Amino acid sequence: MLNQELGGVALVGTGSAAPQAVLDNGGLERRVETSDEWITTRTGIRRRHLAAPGESLTDLAELAGRRALEMAQMEAADLDLILLATSTPDDLFGSAARVQGQLGATRAVAFDLTAACSGFVFGLVTAAQFLRTGVFRNVLLIGADLMSRWVDWDDRRTCILFGDGAGAVVIRASDRDRLLGFEMRSDGTQNSSLTLNFQAQARSLEPATATDGSPLAVALGTYQTVAMNGPEVYRFAVRRVPEAIEKALFKANRTAADLDWLLLHQANQRIVDAVAQRLEIPPEKVLGNLCEHGNTSAASIPLALDAAVRDGRVKPGDAIATAGFGAGLSWGAAVFEWGA
Ligand code: UT7
Repeated sequence: MLNQELGGVALVGTGSAAPQAVLDNGGLERRVETSDEWITTRTGIRRRHLAAPGESLTDLAELAGRRALEMAQMEAADLDLILLATSTPDDLFGSAARVQGQLGATRAVAFDLTAACSGFVFGLVTAAQFLRTGVFRNVLLIGADLMSRWVDWDDRRTCILFGDGAGAVVIRASDRDRLLGFEMRSDGTQNSSLTLNFQAQARSLEPATATDGSPLAVALGTYQTVAMNGPEVYRFAVRRVPEAIEKALFKANRTAADLDWLLLHQANQRIVDAVAQRLEIPPEKVLGNLCEHGNTSAASIPLALDAAVRDGRVKPGDAIATAGFGAGLSWGAAVFEWGA
């Protein structure tokens, strides 16, 4: 049955989880040719949490989800949909269903959404479509990534950047629409700037042949490690992110001056500062967690949002502009108000 009388969405719970083990810049100095000074001044990162071999993305995502449900005072069985934004699932077939099973969200359909560091924003907009059309009432959106599994720990250009974590929000159908505007974009012509590519090795299927008698081979393999042209992605982010936020603000009929908070994907403090400056948003209105978590990909926005909601900085009704950007290349922004 459609609940068309509602028509809007509200974000009513947040949760997060990070692995216990912490690697600080001093630890990285012992592994690659780098320095705490370089990492801190170029990125703002001081520490990152890393999953131990026995820890899974599914478990972290479940924990973040449970905490968000608790804040929303909702049972897992109330959920209609679980969206897991991740690029690093435990299972290439997807990890959302495992999260659904572990949560006991018996009524919910669950699937993964792959959009790298834009995953949370794309997930928020996707969730809103199901809620606004009245198809679903309660959605759990989780952004989770274990980037440590896919980083070359001998490459100082990338290994200093990433960390592991999960963040979640409960989004509910509401008669007051709190998602005020959004913008989503992709540019696959720049795909090679940031990749985690499949690397194939040809395996002959001899003595089998194709039906026309020709030899057959398939591509077996695994994934490479994260490869990034940092300066190119940096330039892309500083140009495209303010543009996307301005478009989302325009659709929301707001200006940057109306915002209580700016919450960007946490990739580099210099990117955050440049975007804030361009939008003329003062530093005290900028949320973030780069110092503690590094770049946690799809998890970075909900991780930082959860911390700010729980410590009381973000209050019900606060207007927040958020933006994700990264591999694809993809980028997107959303303007929303926190709370019912
Ligand atoms: O989440 C997805 C989106 N990702 C991003 O938005 C990342 C965007 N890019 C960035 O944040 C920055 O480009 C980085 C932090 C990745 C790199 O900072 P940068 O200021 O662009 O440095 P660079 O790559 O231009 O390198 C400058 C120098 C180089 O040395 P030379 O060639 O000038 O002698 C690098 O070899 O810094 C060197 N370098 C390092 N030195 C010490 C690169 N990595 C390190 C390191 N420690 N870890």
